[in-house]
Amino acid sequence: MGDEPIMATNDDASECKRGAVQLGYWTDNYIHYFVRHIEKKAPEINRGYFARVKGVDNFIQKFINRAGSNAQIVNLGAGFDTLYWRLKDEGVVISGYVELDFPTVTSKKCYMIKRHKPLLDRIYEQDGEVRFSSTDLHSGNFHCLGVDLRNIQQLKEKLHQAEIKFDKPTLFIAECVLVYIENNWVNRMLQWISTTFSTGLFINYEMCNINDTFGDIMLGNLRARGCTLAGIAQCKNLETQKNRFMENGFMGAKAWDMVQVYHSIEPSERNRIEKIEFLDEQELLIQLFQHYCICIGWLGNDFADFEIEI
Ligand SMILES: C[S@@+](CC[C@H](N)C(=O)[O-])C[C@H]1O[C@@H](n2cnc3c(N)ncnc32)[C@H](O)[C@@H]1O
Repeated sequence: MGDEPIMATNDDASECKRGAVQLGYWTDNYIHYFVRHIEKKAPEINRGYFARVKGVDNFIQKFINRAGSNAQIVNLGAGFDTLYWRLKDEGVVISGYVELDFPTVTSKKCYMIKRHKPLLDRIYEQDGEVRFSSTDLHSGNFHCLGVDLRNIQQLKEKLHQAEIKFDKPTLFIAECVLVYIENNWVNRMLQWISTTFSTGLFINYEMCNINDTFGDIMLGNLRARGCTLAGIAQCKNLETQKNRFMENGFMGAKAWDMVQVYHSIEPSERNRIEKIEFLDEQELLIQLFQHYCICIGWLGNDFADFEIEI
């Protein structure tokens, strides 16, 4: 089986995000440029995406507040993520932003950026010249680059082309990505990151607690779509999620399931989104939340005190 079903998970994530944005779960002024199709999803799916986006954004904000304008972001398996543009809207200035994904995905993203002036204008504004190849985009501080993350040599070359500096505080984001990559490749990548960057944070959002009936059904659904879950062993529980950072040279790691993450969101914000759609199946939402987590691993001591409180 090739990598196409893995790349297709990006279409699914982007469609779900667009659907939830359309209903008002959170604001994203750019996702509609990347996704035309909206399919109505169940309320628990929308709430799940809300918690995912809020939870990941929380650590991104904390990282940027601490690291300041020296911050660099490397978004691994970024798909059609709109974070770069959302940060621009907030007036955030950082030193470098790199998105990496399979060349098939980045070439589609580059095409959308070229086609939609508001996306391109945001890059021009700060970054001046924008250079495109069929799969890559380079500008002053935004880069969208095609790479197979299993190929460390290619990864190094791409980060070099993007002028990422190893001594600047660097945030790595992997949102539902590592589960598709064999553990030995993920380990190699984490080892390279921990031995190369002096200070930084890695945010990983993905499955956990998979060894029960609900987990079996969830994984069965993904496999039925042809997705090989090559990295599933590390998703066994929160401990295995943390261990992979500890075993690959990170200074420390913490992990929370999405029940904890959801309850850390301000009550007013939770009340607001809970009114958007009536949720019949509370139990199903809790089960879904129990099977996903956010894990952070840090390098150096600058980010060791981060917690989920939003
Ligand atoms: C579920 S999507 C998530 C996209 C984005 N992170 C988000 O949360 O919206 C997984 C992404 O990881 C990418 N991916 C998985 N394995 C990869 C690999 N070996 N190299 C590059 N990208 C990969 C896929 O192409 C896809 O875009």
